[in-house]
Amino acid sequence: MTVAVVTGGASGIGSATVARLRADGIDVAVLDVAKDVASGVIACDVTDPDQVQHAVDAVLGRFGRIDVLVNNAGITGSSDATTLHETPVQEWDRVHAVNVRGPFLCARAVLPTMIEQGAGHIITIASVAGLVAFPGRAAYTSSKGAAVMLTKSIAVDYARYGVRANAVCPGMVYTAMTSWRLDQPELRTDIERQIPLGRVAQPDEIAEAVALLASGRLTYLTGHPLVIDGGLSAL
Ligand SMILES: NC(=O)c1ccc[n+]([C@@H]2O[C@H](COP(=O)([O-])OP(=O)(O)OC[C@H]3O[C@@H](n4cnc5c(N)ncnc54)[C@H](O)[C@@H]3O)[C@@H](O)[C@H]2O)c1
Repeated sequence: MTVAVVTGGASGIGSATVARLRADGIDVAVLDVAKDVASGVIACDVTDPDQVQHAVDAVLGRFGRIDVLVNNAGITGSSDATTLHETPVQEWDRVHAVNVRGPFLCARAVLPTMIEQGAGHIITIASVAGLVAFPGRAAYTSSKGAAVMLTKSIAVDYARYGVRANAVCPGMVYTAMTSWRLDQPELRTDIERQIPLGRVAQPDEIAEAVALLASGRLTYLTGHPLVIDGGLSAL
């Protein structure tokens, strides 16, 4: 039996990942802060240590183990979070709380179990924005850079316990996070013109990468930011 926890699993890449992992026969616990989600989702704000611990305890109570954590919950921040000197401090903190503190708290909560098991895999959905700077998105870009380094730090510190950590770095994916831009035909054409493959990704194309990592087939891979961006960052 393989048990996975997916944060932010009620929408977009997270929900596609839940479906894809379940198709592989993995038992998946879904955590999300969204209020209007289907039953079966564990209510959890990943920025709150008590809620995270409570959610992890609930998963352990039900399944008895956690093999894979997918740190997927994330936000870009409001339209105020642009270049650095224009970004309100509160908005900076909010973006970093979800995108960095969240993966930190979730990893911190599952690691004792993974150490005890002598095995585990922490997969964090970072972004290509964590490897190359996205113009006018200082808070998001820096938070995703931190998510990549958090992944490397876990990989280095916990390899001796049989725990691996990898990041997935998507380019532009059509989800609730990006639809406000991509539903504007001119803007979408403009964005897709900059992508070598000529189109944005669908959530299941990112879920496929997570499923490959979660499958345990890439046994020697750890500390790696896997870029799935249609060639955007190769330019
Ligand atoms: N869509 C893209 O183009 C894109 C590109 C690169 C990386 N990403 C990353 O992929 C991940 C998923 O994004 P998406 O596009 O599917 O977005 P989305 O908005 O469709 O889904 C994000 C989910 O995270 C949940 N969430 C937000 N804050 C939370 C919190 N504090 N606690 C628990 N859950 C919370 C939301 O309720 C939502 O269900 C994010 O980390 C995002 O930064 C997205």
